[in-house]
Amino acid sequence: MRRRGTIDEDATLGELASERPARMRVFERLRLDYCCGGASTLQDACRERGLEVGAVRAQLEAVDRDDVLLEPASERDWRRATIDELCDHIVSTHHDYLRQEMPRISDLLARVVRAHGADCLDFEIIERAFASLRADLDAHIDEEERLLFPACRALGRDGETGDELDQGTVGRQRDEHEAVGRKLTALRALTGGYDTSRALCSTHRALLESLRLMEADLHRHIHEENNVLLPRVGGRSTQTM
Ligand SMILES: [Fe+2]
Ligand SMILES: [Fe+2]
Repeated sequence: MRRRGTIDEDATLGELASERPARMRVFERLRLDYCCGGASTLQDACRERGLEVGAVRAQLEAVDRDDVLLEPASERDWRRATIDELCDHIVSTHHDYLRQEMPRISDLLARVVRAHGADCLDFEIIERAFASLRADLDAHIDEEERLLFPACRALGRDGETGDELDQGTVGRQRDEHEAVGRKLTALRALTGGYDTSRALCSTHRALLESLRLMEADLHRHIHEENNVLLPRVGGRSTQTM
């Protein structure tokens, strides 16, 4: 095992993010996929992205040092929470955020299309891409709250029995996350990486900034489900989702 400093290059991105959530800031900055691609080792992910693993390790170690200075840890380690606490956190932090933000973003998009759609066809394509992502997410979080989380909570209360979710449920969950990840990647490409320097007006700038923040929150959200929640209820493998 290659271990230099505090970061193991053979650890997966999902493990590294779970161990110290502040590291997700580095992964976001470098566009390293730690949620749907959380089963890749740091070394493999860096090779794939053309990044020098030593330099990335140094950035992660710098974040670790800062995080220690900010004790108590700036973000909670959700691996140590109960299943109930984890599900409550995902609903109140990530699902409620989506329920609030997605209609607001749709409204911003409609205003941008009205103002600039005649000059640029891209806005209508972006509007359709976002509508498709929103429909998927609305259905996905609704199903999680009606079916998946109650099943996880029941297992959490009854952990000693060794019962687990069936693999079909776990696999379907991971597949849906991967589909969301693909739509997010497409949306990022369509909007030029959410580059606000190319914004045509203040509404367009607000739209790009809102999409960027929603993407970052979704990465965390999917990471907490794929790499923290599911492995505790039967999704032991973090193989590609
Ligand atoms: Fe969720
Ligand atoms: Fe989910």
